Amino acid sequence: MENKKEPIIIDGKLIASEIKKELAQEVIQLLDSGKRPPHLVAVIVGEDGASQSYVASKEKQSKEVGFLSSIYRFPETLTEEELLNTIDFLNDDNEVDGFIVQLPLPKHIDEHKIIQRIDPRKDVDGFHPANGGRMMYNMPAFIPATPYGIMTMLERSKINTVGKNCVVLGRSNIVGTPVAVLMSRNNSSANSTVTLCHSKTENIKEICLGADILIVAIGKPEFLKEDMVKEGAVVIDVGIHRIEDQTKERGYRVVGDVKFDEVAPKCSYISPVPGGVGMLTVVSLLQNTLKAYKHEIYPEK
Ligand code: GUN
Repeated sequence: MENKKEPIIIDGKLIASEIKKELAQEVIQLLDSGKRPPHLVAVIVGEDGASQSYVASKEKQSKEVGFLSSIYRFPETLTEEELLNTIDFLNDDNEVDGFIVQLPLPKHIDEHKIIQRIDPRKDVDGFHPANGGRMMYNMPAFIPATPYGIMTMLERSKINTVGKNCVVLGRSNIVGTPVAVLMSRNNSSANSTVTLCHSKTENIKEICLGADILIVAIGKPEFLKEDMVKEGAVVIDVGIHRIEDQTKERGYRVVGDVKFDEVAPKCSYISPVPGGVGMLTVVSLLQNTLKAYKHEIYPEK
């Protein structure tokens, strides 16, 4: 008889709630010793629905752990100059530890210019090139929320990454590229041999079949199929998509980049969508904000 183990479903919600408890505990200790709480600011321009709900979630979760949270809301008509002035103001405000400018921005505002104006010491999104560069050189850096969340998931699930073949699908600036760098690092939560695949990769199926750990951030619904995964692999699904589904009351279902029902039975560990990596992104932002507050990345001026 086949002696096959059930896959372990990585519970993003549980990991997120554990970290939030730890953060809340730390805030209580800060307050008990007479200090102010960490303060995270989100800047949002325009009325984009998804951005509004991301920012609302950031505020809600900040408050849950006892952080101060502020939202600067501006109309779509805000000029680039006005946004740059707001960033200068936040850079100089000693009572703001970290801030983010919610993306996407309206078309008349140059995203790169905005990100580069943020003081890297307060760049808790980790999008400033100074933080990207520092990460690349294995210096203390703010790590972007999704790669940070993926590394946390692997660590907290005690998944052995050392010497493993890790295949990353997707080379975006905010997920694939940084996670490939982090997974190849020489430390106990990484130390893998990394292959970074993208739209021009040949033999992607064969490469995936050689993976002990697959991190799938390719942005295509249910891209990773059962015949691309070896028995016992660890699969981390970073995708999130709404697929029309009239059998559901709301008319759609949420899927990731992995065909979960097919792939899960082959895995030792798999992160689901929803309920996986997505649960950790705001938490990672909060962890970065606490690091900014404690001057853990950059020495105090
Ligand atoms: N838009 C979607 N995700 C993010 C994020 O993590 N940070 C910012 N600033 N904007 C986003």
